[in-house]
Amino acid sequence: MLGICYYPEHWPESMWAQDAAEMYGLGIRYVRIAEFAWSRLEPSPGQYRFDWLDRAISTLADAGLKVVMCTPTATPPKWLIDLYPSILPVDIKTGHSRGFGSRRHYDFSSPDYFREAMRISTVLAERYGEHPAVVGWQTDNELACHDTTHSGSEAALTAFRAWCQQHYSDIDALNSAWGNVFWSMEYRHFGEIELPILAVTETNPAHQLAYRRFSSDQVVHFHDEMVRIIRAHAPGRFVTHNFIPMVDTQTDNYALAKPLDFASFDNYPLGRSDLFFAKRGAAMFKPYMRTGHPDFSSYYFDQTRGLTGKHFWIMEQQPGPVNWAKHNPRPEPGMVRLWSWVSFAHGADVVSYFRWRQAPFAQEQMHAGLKRIDNSKAAAWPEIEQLVREMALCPDLLEQQVKATVAMVSTTENQWVCEIERQGDSFNQQEVEFAWYSALRQLGVDVDFVSPEQDLTGYKLVLVPCMPVVRPEFVKRCQDSGALLVFGPRTGSKTTEFQLVPQLAPGLLQALVPVKVLSVETIRPDCAEPLFIGQKQYQSQCWREELEVPQSCQVLAHYHDGLPAAAQHQRAVYVATVSCDDFLKALFADLLKQACVETVVLPHDVRLARRGGLTFLFNYSAKPSKVAAPANAQWLLGSATLDGYGVAIYR
Ligand code: GLA
Repeated sequence: MLGICYYPEHWPESMWAQDAAEMYGLGIRYVRIAEFAWSRLEPSPGQYRFDWLDRAISTLADAGLKVVMCTPTATPPKWLIDLYPSILPVDIKTGHSRGFGSRRHYDFSSPDYFREAMRISTVLAERYGEHPAVVGWQTDNELACHDTTHSGSEAALTAFRAWCQQHYSDIDALNSAWGNVFWSMEYRHFGEIELPILAVTETNPAHQLAYRRFSSDQVVHFHDEMVRIIRAHAPGRFVTHNFIPMVDTQTDNYALAKPLDFASFDNYPLGRSDLFFAKRGAAMFKPYMRTGHPDFSSYYFDQTRGLTGKHFWIMEQQPGPVNWAKHNPRPEPGMVRLWSWVSFAHGADVVSYFRWRQAPFAQEQMHAGLKRIDNSKAAAWPEIEQLVREMALCPDLLEQQVKATVAMVSTTENQWVCEIERQGDSFNQQEVEFAWYSALRQLGVDVDFVSPEQDLTGYKLVLVPCMPVVRPEFVKRCQDSGALLVFGPRTGSKTTEFQLVPQLAPGLLQALVPVKVLSVETIRPDCAEPLFIGQKQYQSQCWREELEVPQSCQVLAHYHDGLPAAAQHQRAVYVATVSCDDFLKALFADLLKQACVETVVLPHDVRLARRGGLTFLFNYSAKPSKVAAPANAQWLLGSATLDGYGVAIYR
């Protein structure tokens, strides 16, 4: 259940056998290789060098290790860029070409790159597809990372025009769908359409949404073809992709994951926390500076599991300080073990560490590995040894399935809508969604992420934190689900073409909760206002909607001026505010009770997760913590008194 990211091309061949033996000795069984090795696999056009890779795979296999092979398309080599300079993407903020010299320097719309990427993928799949040591494949590497989904190139423009033609058929239909009469933006034919970039002020949001849908389709198309090629040559092998946090891909992740056997996630709790939470100030950030926020990794794990509805892999796990966040602290001792257990608890079947040995050269030389460059064992090593001993105490872990009774509906499309139209600087759809998720997790509730296209039956509570575009089929699924439904601010407010819904928000959802949003206001985050559930006071912040609530609804919360902030009609609730953590916890505690979902009282920095018959407890604080566990709990690891940064498991 453990893996490692290894770069044989970075080390003298004389080291490989010992590396492999040590990996096996540590308990590692999977080795991911070759995702950046194009310049070594094809040093010049058409001149392939597979001898070294053949030997590397043999060395790993001889040590008892299984190989996860990658397509090397995240790093097109220099000669390829020189042959076809238009492979380079164009920065949509400057209109300049992005240069060679790092990675992901390719344009998803470049026909030359599409052909070349599929060529090298075919060559590799033909050679290693049936290799007995190669048990699975990773496509490319972190598709869309470094803001590479969007390109302002000529190729993107040509492809976008064709995409528009295909989607709207008729230019008048497009003009009317986008509302192009506004500011004289009407087009006479598809050849006049521009990309929505580099304009004087904001471009039409419908145009932007179309461009984002198009760009996402380009990534999916590229990836689908790569998966098809691998499958054609690698029978019986799994195909996966290592996703970055869903918010950063700018791609429809459900569509991207569709052809995969399972999704994988690259987990860097500290680096990501630094980027996500730093702006919230030291008080919020510091307690978790060396642990990561207790809900942050699991938020992404649950999303990753939701992409295919199956268990997942952690393809890269942070082993120590990274090099790429704004600040790069060391994890607290014990966190690599804890993070690994959190992954397993949320449905990981394999945790693979990035990377075996720190690189002494190039961009990531300050990024920790399991080994230092002098080949000594770095801090994570004994933690993994401990993990391996502990895993032996849960021999049936892989047979245990994660199945939550609470679902959260989330889509990239709605993230796009909220990014395109923020309405207030402090409104951030991801933060709203994360706050809802975190409130549930603090109540000891497991959460599945689902797409609006999924069947919702079987769930007791379904939450939709922020989903402006609601389609009729989704309303039907909600009606059929039997679950208690909770819709957050902005939900149901836009048509699929980014117009206001004619019946006022929440639009089609009025069939479930007949409220009307009369107006919307955004307020500064430091100007929060009182919000009440009964007499109890909380805070409304950033976003507030003026609600018209008919008599048939019950008001669940109100603003300081007496106007309603949340209302319920039968099995559906509408929440018209962005609010503080305590409000969400109080509101959700009531709703979970209504929905007959068990909640658990947990100490502040303790989290609980269930995988089948196993319950996991995690302490994100340095202080020991006592939890209430059932009297008949059979402890496999630890006890009801959790050590600082401790893990406990009971059956
Ligand atoms: C990403 C990449 C890796 C490496 C790590 C460093 O996840 O996939 O190649 O750059 O980050 O943390």
